[in-house]
Amino acid sequence: PANVGIHALEFHFPAQFVDQEELEQFDGVSTGKYTIGLGQTQMGVCDDREDINSISLTVVQNLVEKHSLSFKDIGFLEVGTETLIDKSKSVKTVLMTLFEKSGNFDVVGIDTKNACYGGTASVFNAVNWIESSSWDGRWAIVVAADIASYAPGPARPTGGAGAVAILIGPNAPVVFDQGVRGTFMNNVWDFYKPELGCEYPIVDGHFSSVCYIQSFDASYNLFTQKFAKRYSPHPEKKITSQDLDHVVFHSPNCKLVQKAFARMTYLDLLQDPENALYGPLKEWARFGQTEESYYNKDLERTLIQFTKDEYQKKVLPSLYAATNVGNMYTASMWAGLASLLSLTPEQELLQKRVGLFSYGSGSAATFFSARIVGSTERFKETIQMQTRLAQRIKVTPERYSELMLLRQETAGLKDYTPVGDTTIMAKGTFYLQHIDDKSRRTYARV
Ligand code: ACO
Repeated sequence: PANVGIHALEFHFPAQFVDQEELEQFDGVSTGKYTIGLGQTQMGVCDDREDINSISLTVVQNLVEKHSLSFKDIGFLEVGTETLIDKSKSVKTVLMTLFEKSGNFDVVGIDTKNACYGGTASVFNAVNWIESSSWDGRWAIVVAADIASYAPGPARPTGGAGAVAILIGPNAPVVFDQGVRGTFMNNVWDFYKPELGCEYPIVDGHFSSVCYIQSFDASYNLFTQKFAKRYSPHPEKKITSQDLDHVVFHSPNCKLVQKAFARMTYLDLLQDPENALYGPLKEWARFGQTEESYYNKDLERTLIQFTKDEYQKKVLPSLYAATNVGNMYTASMWAGLASLLSLTPEQELLQKRVGLFSYGSGSAATFFSARIVGSTERFKETIQMQTRLAQRIKVTPERYSELMLLRQETAGLKDYTPVGDTTIMAKGTFYLQHIDDKSRRTYARV
C-alpha cells in the first residue's frame, strides 16, 4: 500500500471551560502570567461524568458516524493514553463494545503508554501495520486521549482534556513521509505518575520544559539528516525549517511551543552559521548546544524575536485547540493537526509539508513529517473546531476548583454514581453511568 496517512480526524473536548484571565485573578498571580506568559486562553475541565473510557468511546463513535464507516471495516485500533484507571484492563477492550453489533472482534492493537507520547507510538504502529505483511486491507484507528490535571499550584493552569481519533489508511490526503522519524528516548524524572489512585503527576515543571527542548533538538537534528538522505538530491545538505510549511508541536503550553519553534532556527543556524539568512543571529552560534544554550534568556528572547513572523504563519494556526482547551497530553499534537487542517483554507495547505513534534515526559520524543496531497475540506466540515468550541459552557474559577476537587475525591471509588450534569454535554457524548462494587464501569450516551 502506498501513501499511508490520515484520512480523517475527530476531536472531542470537555463541555465546560474556565477562562485563564479569570483564573489569574482567582489564583492571585500577576495579570498576564497564564495568558501571555504561558500563552493560554481557556482550559477545558471534566467533571466526574467523563473518564478515559468515556472520552475514547465518544471520539471513536463520532468518527465512525461522521464518516459513515462500518465497524466491520476496521482491523486495527489502538489507544495512546496516560490517564490510567486500571493496571490491567485496556481502554481498547472497552472500545470493543462499539464493535459488538457488527460481529467484528478481529481487531488488532492495544493501549500504549508513555506520558504524552502514546498516541504517536500508536500512530506509528498503525502505519507499520498497514505497510506490513500483516495488513488485511482494513482501516486503522488510533485514539489519543487524556484528562490532564495537576494539583493546585503553578502547573494547574496547564491542565486540560481531549481526545482525538485518527483514521489511517493508504492513499490518504495527508501522507506520512517514510523513513524520516527522528526519535530520542532517555531516562529522566521530569513528570511521572507513581500513584494509580491519583490523577495528578509528580512534575518538575521547569526541568520538564528543558527536557522537552533537549528532546526537540535531538529529534529535529536526526529528522533533518534522515530527510536529506532519503529525499534530497543533495543528501549532504540537510533540510531546514525553511523546507517545512507548517510545524505542529505537542503543546504543554503555547509559550513553550513558541520557544521550540524559535529553537528550530537556532539548530538550523548551528548547521550553517555563515548563511546570510540568519543575519544578526550569527554571534549566538558560539553557545552551540551547550547546557547554557537551554537556559540563556537573552538567546531565547533573540530567537523568539527573530522567528516571530514565521511563528505566526507556520505554527499559530495549529495552536487553536491548545490555547482554548489546554494541554491534552497524548491528544495535544493531534488536536494541533486537527486545528491546522480544519482552520486553514485548503488552497493554502495543498502540496505543503508539515513537521510534527511529539514529546512524552520520562522521556520519548519523535520529530516526523507529513505532506498534504489531497483535499482537506472534509476535515473542516467534520471537525468544526471554532463552532463546537464556542458552544461550551464557561464556569467560574471557583466552580472549576470544585470540579477538580470532585474528580480528586471520587477517583478510584467503587459503588459510585457520578453526580455531574449530563444535560450540558454535546450530543453524542458518552458518560460514566455507574461504577459497581467490583469497580466495573458502565456508560451511556447523550
Ligand atoms: N505577564 C507576562 N508574562 C509573565 C507574567 C506576566 N504577568 N508573569 C510571569 N510571566 C512569564 C514568565 O516570565 C515566564 O516566561 P518564560 O518562560 O519565558 O521565562 C512564564 O510566564 C511562566 O512563568 P513562571 O514563573 O516560569 O511559571 P511557573 O514557574 O509558575 O510555572 C510551568 C510554569 C513550569 C510551565 C508550570 O506551569 C508547569 O509546571 N506546568 C506543567 C509542566 C509542563 O507542562 N511541562 C512541559 C513539558 S512536559 C508535559 O507536556 C507535561
